[in-house]
Amino acid sequence: MNFTENLLAWYSQNKRDLPWRNTTDPYIIWLSEIILQQTRVEQGMPYFQRFAERYPTVSAFAQASEDEILKLWQGLGYYSRGRNMLFTAKIIQQKFNGHFPDNYTDLIALKGIGEYTAAAIASFSANQAKAVVDGNVSRVIARYFGIIEPINSTKGKKLFQYMADELLSLQSPGLHNQAMMEFGALQCKPKTPNCSTCPVNESCYAFANSMVLTLPLKLKTVKVRDRFFNYFLITDNNRILLNKRGIDDIWANMYDLPLIETETTYIPEQLFSTAEIISMFGSSAQIINISAMQKHILTHQRIHARFIHIKLNIEEITLQPTWFITDIENLKTLALPKIISTFLSNILR
Ligand code: ADE
Repeated sequence: MNFTENLLAWYSQNKRDLPWRNTTDPYIIWLSEIILQQTRVEQGMPYFQRFAERYPTVSAFAQASEDEILKLWQGLGYYSRGRNMLFTAKIIQQKFNGHFPDNYTDLIALKGIGEYTAAAIASFSANQAKAVVDGNVSRVIARYFGIIEPINSTKGKKLFQYMADELLSLQSPGLHNQAMMEFGALQCKPKTPNCSTCPVNESCYAFANSMVLTLPLKLKTVKVRDRFFNYFLITDNNRILLNKRGIDDIWANMYDLPLIETETTYIPEQLFSTAEIISMFGSSAQIINISAMQKHILTHQRIHARFIHIKLNIEEITLQPTWFITDIENLKTLALPKIISTFLSNILR
């Protein structure tokens, strides 16, 4: 048996029963793929189910408000994906009359749909012969064929795509793609691959050469920036002062608390004598409590956040354009970054 025959036989025995595999609806596949780019299957599943239930069609999705989408997306991270999905759903509504495209050319032209997602949707929904290449697939290929080109170099990306296309079964590209991803996720796992039970271990280059844990190679490139967020918690009985974030930064259009960003960690008492604070809150604000520094890791940024609880008559605050006072009860309906929702749910219990 060759690689593909072994792979498909393995898949029919070992595949998980996942809801997005029982459909050829490109909209549902798009929904699942975008969510799964964000998180592992177990964690993504409830999000997928909530989205699919609330918005069973792309037309329903296109009619949602951005606040609704961000709220449902809350906890997944990388919120621009949720916003891009809404943008894309509206385009599909207008340009394709609500019929989600299922061919690679139309798909790749859409915002937020790259080569991987376009190949996944076109192959799963219409059996188009486009190979998907994600982390799972490139790991399988790197190990099986002994490819030492890094998976994330420009040359590596082209090479892995080329090899995946060569390997693709032209009879059943959708099935083959699912099988490659599932094989990477369950058998040829990153840190604990099950080589002893692997159906292709006899012809695997990495297995024969003790390179299973060495491959694939990856270039370390991302620079991570440290940012220091000094958040202010101001409450008054059952009300709280909130901030709606702008469009140009992380957590775009989501809700957090009034904030001063500093270049480094600041002693909160020192912060309180700066002109910026005085212009925000006047000079009568008193610090009630200061939380420990909390770290939140994003793709290219490390957020160090501290929450400074201050006492101030909420009525006397001069509201900045993005600030508003709302009932604490209302927090449930607003999309909050995880670091904010965790902090608030602990403190306001
Ligand atoms: N991860 C990304 N896409 C997936 C899919 N279609 N099935 C299982 N895991 C996945």
